[in-house]
Amino acid sequence: MLTAIYPGSFDPVTLGHWDLIQRAEKLVGHLVVAVLHNPTKRPAFSVAERVDFLRELVQPYPNVEVTSFHGLLVDFARERNAQCIIRGVRAFSDFEYEFQMALMNRKLHSDLETLFLMPKEEFSVLSSRMVREVGSMGGDISGFVPAHLCERIAARLKDSGAYV
Ligand code: PNS
Repeated sequence: MLTAIYPGSFDPVTLGHWDLIQRAEKLVGHLVVAVLHNPTKRPAFSVAERVDFLRELVQPYPNVEVTSFHGLLVDFARERNAQCIIRGVRAFSDFEYEFQMALMNRKLHSDLETLFLMPKEEFSVLSSRMVREVGSMGGDISGFVPAHLCERIAARLKDSGAYV
């Protein structure tokens, strides 16, 4: 049974992330969606909020788990006996960063493969950064985040007033 980790910041989760989770869970036995706890960044949403949003989404999928991790992804992968990492590529602009990260992870853990999946074309220009920017200025984010989380995400972004 293949265990895969889908790591990310998910600040906040977008329809692109959600599309990728649904594609990945069909391919692997166990999918661990892992939110990076990065003390050097000031995220719009706390790790607990991001984990809660994702847990609500994956509730119908018993083979999908949501958690957070600190430090190196390869160490977390070893801890969880994961054989592969799932990452999304939306456009050519994602490629260089993803390529470097995949090769670095493979240098650090030679048995760990990175699988790249493409989200639906309509999500190819969608990012958490854009959701934060549009939402914090009161714009409509309903086309970008899962419907039943939209109100909560929009309210938090508007309140924070943070234009990231
Ligand atoms: O959603 P993001 O911000 O593009 O996700 C990036 C993430 C969390 C996958 C990446 O920053 C990561 O794996 N960080 C953990 C630290 C690490 O392992 N770094 C070495 C790989 S370059």
